[in-house]
Amino acid sequence: MGFIADSLGRISPSPTIAVSQKARELKAAGKDVIGLGAGEPDFDTPDNIKEAAIKAIRDGQTKYTAVDGIPELKDAISRKFARENNLDYAPAEISVGSGGKHVLYNALLATLNPGDEVIIPAPYWVSYPDIVLLGGGVPRIVETKLSDGFKLTPEALEAAMTPKTKWLIFNSPSNPSGAAYSHADLKALTDVLMRHERVWVLSDDIYEHLVYDGFKFVTPVEVEPGLRTRTLTMNGVSKAYAMTGWRIGYAGGPAELITAMRKLQSQSTSNPSSISQWSAVEALNGPQDFIAERAEVFKGRRDLVVSMLNQANGLSCPRPEGAFYVYPSAADCMAKRSPGGRLLETDEDFVTALLEEEGVAVVHGAAFGLSPFFRISYATSTEALEEACGRIQRFCASLKG
Ligand SMILES: Cc1ncc(COP(=O)(O)O)c(C=O)c1O
Repeated sequence: MGFIADSLGRISPSPTIAVSQKARELKAAGKDVIGLGAGEPDFDTPDNIKEAAIKAIRDGQTKYTAVDGIPELKDAISRKFARENNLDYAPAEISVGSGGKHVLYNALLATLNPGDEVIIPAPYWVSYPDIVLLGGGVPRIVETKLSDGFKLTPEALEAAMTPKTKWLIFNSPSNPSGAAYSHADLKALTDVLMRHERVWVLSDDIYEHLVYDGFKFVTPVEVEPGLRTRTLTMNGVSKAYAMTGWRIGYAGGPAELITAMRKLQSQSTSNPSSISQWSAVEALNGPQDFIAERAEVFKGRRDLVVSMLNQANGLSCPRPEGAFYVYPSAADCMAKRSPGGRLLETDEDFVTALLEEEGVAVVHGAAFGLSPFFRISYATSTEALEEACGRIQRFCASLKG
């Protein structure tokens, strides 16, 4: 038996972080690289939020706090759920953790027993299957289709249900596809879920505010209040408020689950950073107008990227409703040879050649469980996106075979 736990052998390091790291290394070695791999807004945290953190430090809010969140933050979250999602969560039904990822981790580790199945639509955010595996669960991956806009269909959801199904992880707008579920899309799924009374829903709403063209965001319990007793509605400040480094995520759900998550957190991180919690109070209670303004900027970038990619030979790129990602198909580039001589047999070959030969870093679809695609994050400057998409067009135009 080795020294490192067997459970770690079941998971891999985040491929998105690996791509960003490789791009950084190439840059440090003097190569001209444009990184489109990272999943964080290029905007800065607004000043009023920064000031709240500085004030918290000056006021001595620098000690341990209640394990799953200070009352002021739980109150702000409760009001956010009521204001934006028509959901009624009392403070005892709210958990705050060190980022949305941590909240998901707490929820899954607090509930999974060996062999429990978790339905995860693909393409999926890379951390879902690995957290399930770490918790001893079994990810049940359900592939979606480009022709369905990468959305899970009620038929596919029904077919994936087994007596061992414990959770469905639902993510709209999606990382990596940007697909977002309308009220009608979601109702078709919640109808299926209402027939499976033992199955819980983990709704990852972290991209809620990044939707375009008047798209109306909805979350499962809003669409089907009958699911409230078995849904965890998760969200966080990372994406909407450009606060990825502050590490605050939260969720609303049944008190029994929230209590179990608190127990787990009490024996790991104790509490999220006191200073970040005070900044999150300001984020949720303060001015919200900048969110829509920034979403407009993202929309312009999405349109630019979709249009330029659809002009590239062999690529086909749907126009997603939300988040800051696109997920183009590279199917027509497969079995071709890059100018540098690499045979493109997989989407990983495609992104490796693109990085080495044109200096554009994107993430291969296999990392998100659906090939042959790749993910572009357009949370970067318009100039960089134009240059990167121009290079992708040049790369695709020069493929042979
Ligand atoms: C779909 C999705 N959920 C959750 C997270 C976690 O965000 P954080 O831990 O920064 O709150 C991310 C971050 O990339 C994400 O893309």
